[in-house]
Amino acid sequence: MELFTVTDGCTGCGLCAAACPASLVRQRTPGQPPQALAGREAHCIRCGHCVIACPTKSFVHALLPPDSFEPIRRKEFPSPGSLRHLLMARRSCRTYNPAPVPRDDILALIEAVRHAPTGHNMRQVGYVVVDGPERMDAARQLVLDWIGLEVAADSPRAARLHLAGAARAAARGKDVIFRHAPHVIVAHAPIDGISPEIDATIAASWLEIAAMASGYAACWCGYLMFALAAHPPVNAALGIPSGHQGYAALLFGRPATRVAQIPPRDMPPVHFYEPGACGNEGE
Ligand SMILES: Cc1cc2nc3c(=O)[nH]c(=O)nc-3n(C[C@H](O)[C@H](O)[C@H](O)COP(=O)(O)O)c2cc1C
Repeated sequence: MELFTVTDGCTGCGLCAAACPASLVRQRTPGQPPQALAGREAHCIRCGHCVIACPTKSFVHALLPPDSFEPIRRKEFPSPGSLRHLLMARRSCRTYNPAPVPRDDILALIEAVRHAPTGHNMRQVGYVVVDGPERMDAARQLVLDWIGLEVAADSPRAARLHLAGAARAAARGKDVIFRHAPHVIVAHAPIDGISPEIDATIAASWLEIAAMASGYAACWCGYLMFALAAHPPVNAALGIPSGHQGYAALLFGRPATRVAQIPPRDMPPVHFYEPGACGNEGE
């Protein structure tokens, strides 16, 4: 299979070759059309960068039809100031309107974040969405059952995560696990993938921001994430495909209340690298 062809409009600028992360697009002579690195087609990660780099739209990828590309509308980008403000105003929500969010609206948010980066462009992140009070109760019980196991075993994890306290709160009817949110959304990826935990975490982090921008609210659900990591049966019970693990979980819904202020957060430490300088000078 020819991985790509170039049409007559090719100017030989070489931008396609410069853009290919796998170096499969080669320009042997400056000013000449590119050629595919023979026998390495299977290494293409289908990122589409070769196509979008071409200023004359002359680069046709065999696996990525031209009509599957969308034009970028830069005028619609948020300004740096408005994006900064949105990022600063994002908050973890712990009080939710109990009404479920329509499934189509949840799907639209997931669709909007499908361009989140993944290692090797593997794009193997999937989602399990829990909705409806009965299903939320069943999912909460999975977490509580795991908490019960950890507490009964008196595990270091139970002490570190204060799991006995969470169990006691649940027994009193206080939902510290799901905060009475109408949904929890789990991002999962293949355990033997290139970077599954990072991919799922980036995707969920984008989803949190997208939710906020659309007037919804979210909160990372650490208890469920720890249960998924520590107790594999929770993954299967939640319907996460075999071979995958849930790495990120977000409570999700409409906020019951809106906050009006941004709390303070320190500027993180930042060092500009100096070769030869030791990183632990302050110790
Ligand atoms: C990995 C992770 C797990 C978290 N788990 C929980 C949780 O189980 N329950 C909860 O109420 N908040 C949870 N949070 C939210 C943090 O407590 C929250 O980010 C922090 O208090 C700062 O508040 P902010 O997000 O509004 O800035 C979690 C956050 C992260 C990143």
